Amino acid sequence: RITTVSARQIFDSRGNPTVEAEILTENGRFRGAVPSGASTGTNEAKELRDGGARYMGKGVSRAVDNIRNVIGPAIQGKDPVCQATIDKAMMDLDGTDDKSRLGANAILAVSIAVCRAGAAAKEVPLYKHIGDLAGNAQFVLPMPCFNVINGGVHSGNYLAPQEFMIVPVGALSFKEAMEMGSETYHHLKRLIQAKYGLNAANVGDEGGFSPPLSNFEDALDLLVSAIKDAGYTDRVKIGVDPASSEFFRDGLYDLNFKDPARVGKDLLSAEALAELYTKLLLTYPIMLLEDPFEEDSFCEFTKFTSLVDCQVVGDDLLCTNPARIKHAIRQKSCTTLLLKVNQIGTISESIEAVQLAKEAKWRILASHRSGETEDCFLADIAVGLACGQIKSGALARSERLSKYNQLLRIEEELGTAAVFAGLQGRLV
Ligand code: PGA
Ligand code: ZN
Repeated sequence: RITTVSARQIFDSRGNPTVEAEILTENGRFRGAVPSGASTGTNEAKELRDGGARYMGKGVSRAVDNIRNVIGPAIQGKDPVCQATIDKAMMDLDGTDDKSRLGANAILAVSIAVCRAGAAAKEVPLYKHIGDLAGNAQFVLPMPCFNVINGGVHSGNYLAPQEFMIVPVGALSFKEAMEMGSETYHHLKRLIQAKYGLNAANVGDEGGFSPPLSNFEDALDLLVSAIKDAGYTDRVKIGVDPASSEFFRDGLYDLNFKDPARVGKDLLSAEALAELYTKLLLTYPIMLLEDPFEEDSFCEFTKFTSLVDCQVVGDDLLCTNPARIKHAIRQKSCTTLLLKVNQIGTISESIEAVQLAKEAKWRILASHRSGETEDCFLADIAVGLACGQIKSGALARSERLSKYNQLLRIEEELGTAAVFAGLQGRLV
């Protein structure tokens, strides 16, 4: 039984305030900390921030108070194993569609802490409890997608596309995927330093390098060379998340949006952007493209998905929102759900989102946010829901590695029962 519910303001990897919930049961103390995005979708559940001058308006004392004074009293005495009942109670208390009254940050922090307490009450590992909640008994270690070059709103260079990922599709275990990722990452560092100088290997928000690149081709050429230098040609493929809502203005896309000298010049229509992607897909070993068009472009997504072979991932398009996912399934707008639990705000709704995507035979890419904490819940949810793929940034910065390291522990714990998702998140 939940005896005490408390919360505090802690800090995320960008130094911004975020919420940590803490609940006590007869089994101990359980915490949940929430991450926060920079390229957030308009249709995400809303974080409650204090506004005003302190912490640049980003304080979360109101969300913390809501946990202590509103959510806490309502869930005290409840059995933490009953995740759906507790999540539903919090949603009813909030009463809005986007969780803006109590704050999705307040609700999710509690939802995660409750999930941990539920696992402890059953004396099972967290991933197993999450699997039980979803009716899934097959635990799968996900294929990692390492974001090794950072652009967009995650870095201080002029590169418009946000994420360039390497995906070690030739790996036969999660451990081997980490080795291949780590080696390629360090070869990339060497290449960047040789070509652009020592300080070009500084990292962005997700631990990827942030060299002074200005277009897709520069970044993709670097990745192809790094993969070759590491000896993994054909065994490591590439994923790209342009996060194109960030450079969409008045119906057009601006790939120069961060460069003061070129902003507003060479604007692209959706058709021209689709043509550029098609050319890149023919030239580079790209297996995954996320948010190629802005967040409400269901039709553009549909047209593009019907034409290309690669995985088309919906992030801002879907916002992990069951209603938007259903619409995208009907429209055949994409082939992969990006799962971000804080876009929707409870574990129960995240499970529902994954179940919808699975019924449609989509793939699932479990995802961190660009502002993260050391909380590694993402690793357990990826295994428990058998998502098949995960992105948690590069092989640098411990808020990124905490998820990958937890997956190494889970793989070891499962031993010979460990199943690793192979190529494109399908089982090997
Ligand atoms: P965000 O970026 O966490 O800043 O939204 C991640 C993504 O776009 O996938
Ligand atoms: Zn994205």
